[in-house]
Amino acid sequence: MKDHIQPRDIDGNPVTIGLPMAMLAEITHRCPLACPYCSNPVDLTRAAQELPAEDWARVFREAADLGVLQVHISGGEPGARRDLAQIVGFAREAGLYVNLITSGIGTTRDRLDELDRAGVDHVQLSLQGIRPDMADRISGHKGSWDKKMDFAAWVTEIGFPLTVNAVVHRQNMDRLPDMIGLAERLGARRIEVATVQFHGWATLNRTALMPTREQAAAARRIVNDARIRLRGRMVIDYVPADHHAVYPKACMGGWGSTGLNVAPDGTVLPCHAAASIPWMRFENVAQRSLSDIWHLSDSFNAFRGTGWMAEPCRSCDRKTVDFGGCRCQAMALAGDARATDPVCSKSPLHAQVVARAEQDAASDTADLIYRRMKKGG
Ligand code: SF4
Ligand code: FES
Repeated sequence: MKDHIQPRDIDGNPVTIGLPMAMLAEITHRCPLACPYCSNPVDLTRAAQELPAEDWARVFREAADLGVLQVHISGGEPGARRDLAQIVGFAREAGLYVNLITSGIGTTRDRLDELDRAGVDHVQLSLQGIRPDMADRISGHKGSWDKKMDFAAWVTEIGFPLTVNAVVHRQNMDRLPDMIGLAERLGARRIEVATVQFHGWATLNRTALMPTREQAAAARRIVNDARIRLRGRMVIDYVPADHHAVYPKACMGGWGSTGLNVAPDGTVLPCHAAASIPWMRFENVAQRSLSDIWHLSDSFNAFRGTGWMAEPCRSCDRKTVDFGGCRCQAMALAGDARATDPVCSKSPLHAQVVARAEQDAASDTADLIYRRMKKGG
């Protein structure tokens, strides 16, 4: 950080800045799947705007210098980039632990071997269901199940540690025990059970995906029981259904505190949905170093600390626990990124938000709006 500049939040309060541990590198928005719960922005970045591999090499070096230990290489589907192994190699050269977040679609056994040689340390595979019909319908990709099962087998053969990522929602939540069982059979060391978050494309599918209150309560019990049963064998990370919760999640562990996201075109965001805050301006690695963006940019400093909070967060004893919840959810539900996350029971909008969630969850529609790149992407 430049010695003479005191970073300040959106209200001019001085902020203290920690070091980021992890960086999400969204190297492309292209994807063979069309999941309706995708948190990518509705306006997807086109291939022609993607950062070239050499630029990623610089970004990874700057990230390592900044203190980042781990890079999550993601998308879209990172395998959609022909130069993925080169990009992985650059991350490894920078000394980062490389987690590949993938759908597994389109990656052959030979290519996975190549990625192993390039430096992938860990694989995170998304699953959309526990049977071929469900997996193919949710992903919008016929044959996805078979390809994923082949991919998972290769991951085990090569010896990568595996995390299964399962986004759960009204249409598959009742099969959560089977999903956990599938992750066990695939040899996963970890499963991330993430209830759908209504950002990006998922906002278009609220009525089809919003879980019921009963499903949310059952999922919590299932996860708690499975954690006890699987202790020492498989870790379960759980993102609960916050529309049915009493308090919000500590999104990103607090804005600008431990992580940063780099979008396919090099835009640096404090979280994956930050671009949904219309008045906020974000900087790009093409114009400024990652260190300057982390320490000095208005976007990262805006909601650091607790000084910017209004009531009820300001006088709440949980303000250093959940940091007022999710800024992007506050933007989406309250129309104000500075507001208390309206899923919090102390928010004046809470009753309204719960009533809308109950209404969406009671909908009998199962029709999905699939994620699609606009023509020419
Ligand atoms: Fe968290 Fe704010 Fe709700 Fe308190 S009032 S629990 S700080 S969101
Ligand atoms: Fe942006 Fe939660 S997704 S702060």
